[in-house]
Amino acid sequence: SKRVILDVDTGIDDALGILLAVKSGKLEIEGITTVCGNVSLEQATLNTCKILELAGATDIPVYPGASAPLIRKSHYEHRVHGSDGLGGALSGVEPGKRPESGFGPSFIVETALRYSGDLTLIMTAPLTNLAIALQQCPDLPRHIKEVIYMGGVVRGPGNVTPTAEYNIYADPEAARIVVHAGFERLTQVGLDVTRRALLTESHIGLLTEPAIRSYVQESTAIYIDRYEFVNGVRACALHDPLAVGAAIWPELVDAKDYYVDVETTSRLCDGQTVCDVLNRLGQPPNVRVCEQVDSERFLERFIMTLNL
Ligand code: BDR
Ligand code: CA
Repeated sequence: SKRVILDVDTGIDDALGILLAVKSGKLEIEGITTVCGNVSLEQATLNTCKILELAGATDIPVYPGASAPLIRKSHYEHRVHGSDGLGGALSGVEPGKRPESGFGPSFIVETALRYSGDLTLIMTAPLTNLAIALQQCPDLPRHIKEVIYMGGVVRGPGNVTPTAEYNIYADPEAARIVVHAGFERLTQVGLDVTRRALLTESHIGLLTEPAIRSYVQESTAIYIDRYEFVNGVRACALHDPLAVGAAIWPELVDAKDYYVDVETTSRLCDGQTVCDVLNRLGQPPNVRVCEQVDSERFLERFIMTLNL
């Protein structure tokens, strides 16, 4: 099994990603780091603890990280994820599970050094924690086996601005540091593929574990309404679960190496992942960009795993 750290801004789809990661039994989850993103750092941390309790995985340590982007103001996504980040589900729950006192980015560095060459990072949030970890330890890329991040888009529109995907847009300076840090294997699971991993209400009807089913039903209700309002399809995109899926079942995605940069100084295009598809800049590739996904098989495996 793969040794991983998950980095999350829990968020409806982050929560589904955590459930997938835990239930798969295929990942050795060393810990979960949280960050400001969809919701505040405190809320993301609380939500993560609630989800670990729901998953029966309270032994996984949770480390709070950055409470704001590197230099920008936070940009919450309450319209997508609800005011609490979980679409109102588990709102009455007071988790017994508590976060650790350590700092997320430091935990990433310590764990990478401890398991040098044998740690995969799965990032499903703005990349602030990883950028801070790189500032703490510029040598970090040498110790990391792979970074898989949900973020960006190469072909197609953004989901916050016409050109930018949320996780990159929320902290573009951090994303820019990460793509140029020199990771051996840096995989982008962007909207190009996550937009195709659509969960429908009939999928939810296939969930067999009552607590999980009612949680998923409740938490995705506003997420599906919002997706339908914007995209005209009654479903919701499993952005973050697909990044987790790409770690568990790499064969489900096809990726190609490109040179990718992040726009940080544009009035219209801030946070855009600019991918040099035709190699106009003549730079060596730095990102494996996922271009195709077997979404049907992914959805099948996602449901199957949540039923375990
Ligand atoms: C990403 O943005 C967040 O709102 C989701 O949790 C996901 O990580 C999708 O663009
Ligand atoms: Ca997220």
